[in-house]
Amino acid sequence: MSESLIVEDLYVEFGTVAGPVKALNGVSFSMEENQIYCIVGESGAGKSTLALAIMGLLPQSASVLQGRIIFDGVDLLRASPEHLRSIRGKDISMVFQDAQTALNPVQTVGAQLEEVILTHTDKSSREASRMAQEVLRELGLPDPRRILGEYPFNLSGGMCQRVMLAIALVMRPRLLIADEATSGLDVTLQAEILERLKGLCRELNSAVLLITHDLGIVAHMGHRVAVMYGGALAETADVIPLFREPRHPYTWSLLQALPRLDDVGKRLRPLQGSPPDMVNLPEECAFLPRCPKALSQCRQEPRPPLEELAPRHWAACYNPMVAE
Ligand SMILES: Nc1ncnc2c1ncn2[C@@H]1O[C@H](COP(=O)(O)OP(=O)(O)OP(=O)(O)O)[C@@H](O)[C@H]1O
Ligand SMILES: [Mg+2]
Repeated sequence: MSESLIVEDLYVEFGTVAGPVKALNGVSFSMEENQIYCIVGESGAGKSTLALAIMGLLPQSASVLQGRIIFDGVDLLRASPEHLRSIRGKDISMVFQDAQTALNPVQTVGAQLEEVILTHTDKSSREASRMAQEVLRELGLPDPRRILGEYPFNLSGGMCQRVMLAIALVMRPRLLIADEATSGLDVTLQAEILERLKGLCRELNSAVLLITHDLGIVAHMGHRVAVMYGGALAETADVIPLFREPRHPYTWSLLQALPRLDDVGKRLRPLQGSPPDMVNLPEECAFLPRCPKALSQCRQEPRPPLEELAPRHWAACYNPMVAE
């Protein structure tokens, strides 16, 4: 299978008065075409920083210290602003959590959707309107023609979220990045929208980088998953092996805290102890202070690298859980 995105050894820092926040510390992974790749991890683990780096939308205070982000053979970190503008919104698009504020309040939904189409194609505005209606319908919005004439404030949160997804998907992007895209919605609505998203992405051949706190969503939606901790990947695997045989003690602890894996709406429960201080990250494994399986080796050696413990199953740990 061919790769749609390759992230290699990515390091990102934010400049702050307290010192540099080490948000990403050597993140590497690759996504296959048509794959739903989930990223999970506690608040502050670096998930959104990763998404913004891929989109080329990091704030001014951020610096990319090292790494490559390869899409279609081009390193996006070194691509020209024109190249980035031409692929953003067309080949790679992104949806955020807060759709209602991401939409322009003074433009109709139709104008916003059609603008994307007209910017990236030479379609007529009539064709654009037809495409817009089609994608809204596929995302489960009744009466798309009426919705196109509405302003965002007249729509519910769930409708706005579908409109955002429609804007992100209307150009049939090769990659959609969804950062907590449905977290503000109630659980039933989330499940319905995600199901539609999954179906539509399959139809459009779009890969999805799905960022979520919710392991139920990962279990339902994902093909592959990366667990992030302290700005690095603790474990990556296909979804079923990750749930069945977690190898990193952090992943194991997260799963222990879950009553039922197939319950959508099960957010990560906070573990005992606190996440690492991202300004003063230790040299050794960042999970060490909370780890139930720490060895003296873990205190003495630098942060463990990701290692392939079973085919396609990687963990960064000196003393991984034993597979049964
Ligand atoms: N603009 C910024 N300036 C300074 N520090 C930042 C900035 N954005 C993020 N950070 C810090 O970078 C680290 C990673 O943040 P990030 O937002 O990527 O985490 P996250 O995994 O998306 O968390 P959440 O689940 O809460 O969305 C955190 O320590 C955060 O405080
Ligand atoms: Mg985030």
